[in-house]
Amino acid sequence: QNNVKRGSWTDEMFRQSMPKRETDAHKGIHGRGLVVGGNTEMPGSIAMTAKTALRAGAGLITAGTTEKVIPVAASHCMEATYLKLGETNGNLNDDTAISFKSFDAVALGMGMGRQQVTGNLVRQTVEEATCPLIVDADGLYHLKPLLDLVSNRKGPSIITPHPGEMAMLLDVSVPELLVKPFAYSKVFAEKYHVYVVLKGKFTIITTPSGKQSVNRTGNAGLAKGGSGDVLSGVILAMIMQKQSVFEALCNACFVHGKSADKLVAEEHSVYDLMASDVIDGIAEVYRTLE
Ligand code: APR
Ligand code: MG
Repeated sequence: QNNVKRGSWTDEMFRQSMPKRETDAHKGIHGRGLVVGGNTEMPGSIAMTAKTALRAGAGLITAGTTEKVIPVAASHCMEATYLKLGETNGNLNDDTAISFKSFDAVALGMGMGRQQVTGNLVRQTVEEATCPLIVDADGLYHLKPLLDLVSNRKGPSIITPHPGEMAMLLDVSVPELLVKPFAYSKVFAEKYHVYVVLKGKFTIITTPSGKQSVNRTGNAGLAKGGSGDVLSGVILAMIMQKQSVFEALCNACFVHGKSADKLVAEEHSVYDLMASDVIDGIAEVYRTLE
């Protein structure tokens, strides 16, 4: 955190790089996104990611999850479509052939749990999807033995770990990671050709070629379960709009944190803020974007 002076993403950069909405837009041009995750014990996370992606500007969102999770998720996100995926005892497996070609980007991992069968689905996605792929949460756990496959993917790969998940991927302790978060992010991003979004009070965004930026929006109200699922949804939406992957990631982190900041300044507090509030708060961030 003594490094935060380094290249912060600013309000001005956000305003400059956010793609304008075309007046003759149709849903197809704002991207078809797929969210894959969820299990019986975590039915809410993919609903939050799906809903956030739509709020953040995605054209169409499909959520791929287990049969039991679908009605729960659909009751919270009516605008998404749902894809029933194969499962073993409530955990996703790779029994279903997914037509990845139908999607412009995929977000994978939220609420999927760490059962071994679910790792097969992560492998299937890494091997078959050629579009931008965002991996978060338990998806990162399953991704660890697949990193060499990840480095050979055609499309951009984005990982969004919190420090615990990043330390797990690197085989270092969290304190060790936090002494040199910029250096560790860079080594990892270059080695596996991934974009790294290392989350925290300040979030460090690193490209596969080692370019880095820091997002400083957000507050302690975000330190609550579900905030990460919301960020994945904003990233999914942003990555399908006309901007570079780097800009999409910086803008997504910016919007996520800014939504929380506006809410805490105006109608909430760092105590009561919940991830679902942050989804709705995106409206105000966009409304005040000039
Ligand atoms: N200031 C600014 N931003 C913050 C702060 C803070 N003090 N605390 C958290 N955030 C932001 C992070 O930058 C990130 O964007 O909130 C988000 C939190 O994301 P995650 O850590 O992934 O949280 P989430 O997944 O919603 O919930 C934590 O993840 O790995 C599991 O076991 C873990 O159940 C836990 C869950
Ligand atoms: Mg998380």
